[in-house]
Amino acid sequence: MSSATNADITTNGTEEKPGPTPILLTKKPPRDPTASATLASGEAGGEKGGEESGGPKKTACIRTFGCQMNVHDSDRMRRMVRDAGYAEVDRYEDADLVVLNTCYVRENAVDRVKGHLGELGRLKRQGRVKKVALTGCIGAADEAEELRRTYNIDLVLGTHNTYELATFVGLPGMEETHTPELPGTKGEHLSFVTIMTGCNYQCSYCVVPYVRGRMVSRPLTSVVSEVRRLVESGARYITLLGQTVDAWRESGVKFCDLLERVADEAPRVWFTTSHPSNMEDRTLRLIGEKETIVKKLHLPVQSGSDRMLKAMHRGYKSDRYRRKIEVFREVVTDGTLSTDIIVGHPGETEEDHEETLRLVEDCSFDSAYIFKFSPRSGTEAAELPGAVPEDVVQRRFLEVLRAVEGNAFDRNRRKIGSVEEIYIRHGRTGGGGGKKAVGETWGGHAVHVSTDAKAGRYVDARIEDAGPHVLYAGEPLSSPR
Ligand code: 5AD
Ligand code: SF4
Repeated sequence: MSSATNADITTNGTEEKPGPTPILLTKKPPRDPTASATLASGEAGGEKGGEESGGPKKTACIRTFGCQMNVHDSDRMRRMVRDAGYAEVDRYEDADLVVLNTCYVRENAVDRVKGHLGELGRLKRQGRVKKVALTGCIGAADEAEELRRTYNIDLVLGTHNTYELATFVGLPGMEETHTPELPGTKGEHLSFVTIMTGCNYQCSYCVVPYVRGRMVSRPLTSVVSEVRRLVESGARYITLLGQTVDAWRESGVKFCDLLERVADEAPRVWFTTSHPSNMEDRTLRLIGEKETIVKKLHLPVQSGSDRMLKAMHRGYKSDRYRRKIEVFREVVTDGTLSTDIIVGHPGETEEDHEETLRLVEDCSFDSAYIFKFSPRSGTEAAELPGAVPEDVVQRRFLEVLRAVEGNAFDRNRRKIGSVEEIYIRHGRTGGGGGKKAVGETWGGHAVHVSTDAKAGRYVDARIEDAGPHVLYAGEPLSSPR
């Protein structure tokens, strides 16, 4: 779990959002900008392992900070290091090469990475770690050069040139296409497919446009053929990724069309993150109608105040957002809705905050990722006057959190008694009736369920209890399928 402060706590019990640490989660979510998640190393060397003749194998540890885009980039880099003959290890001290794939969304993310760099410097001096690479959003930022000198980093790469890691680990160079191909990993039930990179918005507070660049949409045929390949090789749940996925387009073809094509290919599909200005009603209808699409929508609103939305350059007013949500609730009857909210953006008044609380009540979110504003150098908001005092930010933060949780709890309780088809996202750990498996309903609710079903399988079970973040199911009514 990330920092012990109350900063940036989400009310979501799932692990799907490129957002901060979910409160009440017992496991570290892989997409937490403030936490680090060590990527699975179970199959280390699985493809190439053993083929190497003689000598101990080289080892690498790839650690990911941040959003799902970063997790996805890490997958690509992991493939490179494996192809270069490295075995993946969990601990820094066991690694010849350590790759820190970093996030830059908020200030404490940088501090956290500095802590890791300090530790790695020590291990390097002891001769345990040989090379350190800093990649991702911090690698693309202005501070990167200073970090490289201070911590004696061997390789610094931004998000736009991660492919250079290939040369660094001794593979022939690869051309970056901006449309990364990631062939499916055999046996992985959950797969992520990047459909666009970058962002064409310029939200006042956000570094993404600076570090990820302008939006580039990946061609439809490339997306569809990758999805097909992944499904053929065992993927059962495809998540389409991008900073503003619903802005995806290709000469007249829009995101809704792409989503429909993908939903025809894959047995279970979701997408994140969307921007309210790009979200079409027909996409919302498609979510409701298409049986392979998980009925959950993550639609960041950021604020309920039109004044703040304008200052943030979000490009919509709160009523337009409300109307989208009305459509979603109407056409996706049993769906879940999550959002991102920033409290304490410069200039936020008590009235603005009240507007946000009103919007939270009106939209009755099932979960939300609530962020305290954090000034990011280079962004407009970092230079704006009207900083909100920390104690005020904290109070507003808790008020929004309580409001979201209250609604979410009420909505979750309504699910008690229903029988749900549950997709197992993580199998039970610690056998013998130990920890429960974590699943997801078609409506997108996170469910704890007592089953030995493996990840990627479905069980039917009745919802017996509910908390604000998660549902609790009874014994499954069916065998896993
Ligand atoms: N301060 C606080 N929250 C931020 N986010 C992005 N930049 C900042 C910032 N400077 C939040 C937004 C975005 C989410 C991924 O992170 O809510 O939707
Ligand atoms: Fe950042 Fe705004 Fe782009 Fe989202 S839409 S990535 S908040 S600039």
